[in-house]
Amino acid sequence: MRVREAAKRIAIGAVLLAAVGMTAEAKTKVTSQPFGKLPAGTPVEIYTLSDGAYEARIATYGGIVVSLKTPDRNGKSADVVLGFDDVDGYVANFNGLSDAYFGAIIGRYANRIAHGSFTLDGQKYSLPKNNGENTLHGGPHGFNNIVWKAKPVVNGVELRYRSKDGEAGFPGNLTATVRYTLVKGDLRIEYSATTDKTTVVNLTNHSYFNLAGQGDILKHELTLHASRFTPVDAGLIPTGQWKAVESTPFDFRKPTAVGARINSDDTQLHLGRGYDHNWVLDSKSGQLAEAAEVYDPSSGRVLKVLTDQPGIQFYSGNFLDGSIKGKGGTPDVLHAALCLETQHFPDSPNHPDFPSTELKPGERYHTVTIYSFSTR
Ligand code: BGC
Repeated sequence: MRVREAAKRIAIGAVLLAAVGMTAEAKTKVTSQPFGKLPAGTPVEIYTLSDGAYEARIATYGGIVVSLKTPDRNGKSADVVLGFDDVDGYVANFNGLSDAYFGAIIGRYANRIAHGSFTLDGQKYSLPKNNGENTLHGGPHGFNNIVWKAKPVVNGVELRYRSKDGEAGFPGNLTATVRYTLVKGDLRIEYSATTDKTTVVNLTNHSYFNLAGQGDILKHELTLHASRFTPVDAGLIPTGQWKAVESTPFDFRKPTAVGARINSDDTQLHLGRGYDHNWVLDSKSGQLAEAAEVYDPSSGRVLKVLTDQPGIQFYSGNFLDGSIKGKGGTPDVLHAALCLETQHFPDSPNHPDFPSTELKPGERYHTVTIYSFSTR
């Protein structure tokens, strides 16, 4: 009897603790408002996640991180991501062909698939090409260009999209969920997906960070916890090699300014027009660990990237050339920002020795990335 009574008390206590825990956890104010319409009339909402000094705004169009305000070492706030002021800006910029993908969720397959083709369970699939001979970021009808269903959750917003069997060339009805939360400077992105047919999936976020909020990122100091990277060919498709970064301009194991070696006479840098490569993370895939750190000496802002993914695409904004006018009409100049896209390796469906991106019915794709902001 006594034992049962004690057990009951413990159970009640646990429920109470859970309830308190839940309210204690809800620190961030989450609000939503209209963000315009797509040309076809589809309404787009924008969610604002505010946690004291930090604020993230997420659009239901493309799941785009439209703005991300963080304080510098003196408490002065700046928006540290590239993008546009309104949904019209994103729609006007989007052309489905080698787009900039500012802040968007990328799916079904982040980065390139060679010749827009792969074989799965003995069947060949062909995808629309949007990057020369290849398919980039899910092709011309990717997850960046749809309106997601949204609902507020504790400290954030959850987005959901059901991609139909054969959509953008990929097999299987895929239900994808992306949950953004913001707590004390940590923007956490949790991706999940299930399918009813064997398929491939590789989701990421394509935010362009500039920790100074202006200028270029060549003086940002970058650390990548990676001893190898996957070299590419002229179409930026991995050759299949896992190359040691040792004694190359790709060695960021110690903090190094992005611009320090970007113009070195190196074949891989020439092919990428700068850095546009996948680094093989040293951490154990499947376990959340620090993958990268960026420090901007001028503002003191620090961005740590944590992920459970096996790779990270470091892209130094090489295709920005000032032709895109971003927020406030500011031209996005060469190297105006950098991307750190946590991911499986590009073109994995055509490389059996890369970690697999296959998802089968009954399995759940689930991955977490945290963009963690602080100052120094
Ligand atoms: C790719 C770049 C591309 C950029 C914008 C990056 O993930 O690796 O080659 O230009 O996205 O689309």
